[in-house]
Amino acid sequence: MNEIMRVGLFAGIQIRSFIITTLCVLMIRSIVNMITVHFKCRGGIYPRSNVERFPVPDDKVSWSSEYKEYLPNNHTASSIRGQPWADPNIGEPGFNPQWNAMDGKVNRASYMGQYSIKGGYPLNPIGRTGITGRGVLGRWGPNHAADPVVTRWKRFENGEIEKDKLNNKPILQCVVIKRRDTGEWALPGGMVDPGEKLSATAAREFQEEAMNSLVMTDDQKVPLMEKFKKFFSEGDEIYQGYIDDHRNTDNAWMESIAYNFHDNSGSTVGALKLHAGDDAVGVQWVDINPDMKLYASHKEIVMLVYQKCLANFSHGNN
Ligand code: BGC
Repeated sequence: MNEIMRVGLFAGIQIRSFIITTLCVLMIRSIVNMITVHFKCRGGIYPRSNVERFPVPDDKVSWSSEYKEYLPNNHTASSIRGQPWADPNIGEPGFNPQWNAMDGKVNRASYMGQYSIKGGYPLNPIGRTGITGRGVLGRWGPNHAADPVVTRWKRFENGEIEKDKLNNKPILQCVVIKRRDTGEWALPGGMVDPGEKLSATAAREFQEEAMNSLVMTDDQKVPLMEKFKKFFSEGDEIYQGYIDDHRNTDNAWMESIAYNFHDNSGSTVGALKLHAGDDAVGVQWVDINPDMKLYASHKEIVMLVYQKCLANFSHGNN
């Protein structure tokens, strides 16, 4: 091989790896912002109120579609007034929010890119919801949550991984909790405390929502959490973006970052026996499948985890 051919071959390999890397980055980006429409925050009565949402047909969701008749009710729940986790009203003296940025310890930046401000109010990046104000949400603009997707393989008593009878794929399970507000099954996530590390929120919420309901004394729980520390420090970021949450409004909306904590051997968190109906009411391991129903956009997030774990499993590096 002469020098010219060698240089040509090297350049070819470089270009190929550049294209592959770019494609991978694009694929990850498309996962990151997968929610581009909303349904659960349109139509009907706003939660914990008797305020009706103005109807928003599919083709009028986007702010760029003209909707001259649009006359939404305004609603900010009086219960959030003065709460330490809630903003004052817009226009109140001393409240000068820094939109699209870190505002002190409060993150007002969106995973969805720059959101617009109209008449002093941030606009929902997906579009109309049929209601203005911030309903029961504390922050104007994005309200940040973090969700842990804790997974394990379903196993028989003898430890062998159970396969789905229809597609012969290993069955993946995740931990879900029953939400007090809607009664729906959901990821055990929660709101990010100002300044808190996001993966720490996900781990803390799991502890608070899924483990607190286990019948255990603090003396029993503390060493268990010590054991889980490493497990919860090694989460894979799965999703960051908008959440189609029933509390969203035109001026306030939920966003979340989701981490997968996968117990491949089933020996740490995977060994926890969680059963709804035990004393641990409202917490359980469920088999992940495309027909499952979960709160807000949690099913979409869980399905991303499912695809990732199955891909790793079939590559033998699960
Ligand atoms: C929940 C999170 C959820 C977020 C958006 C929060 O109240 O705790 O699990 O992702 O709302 O729906």
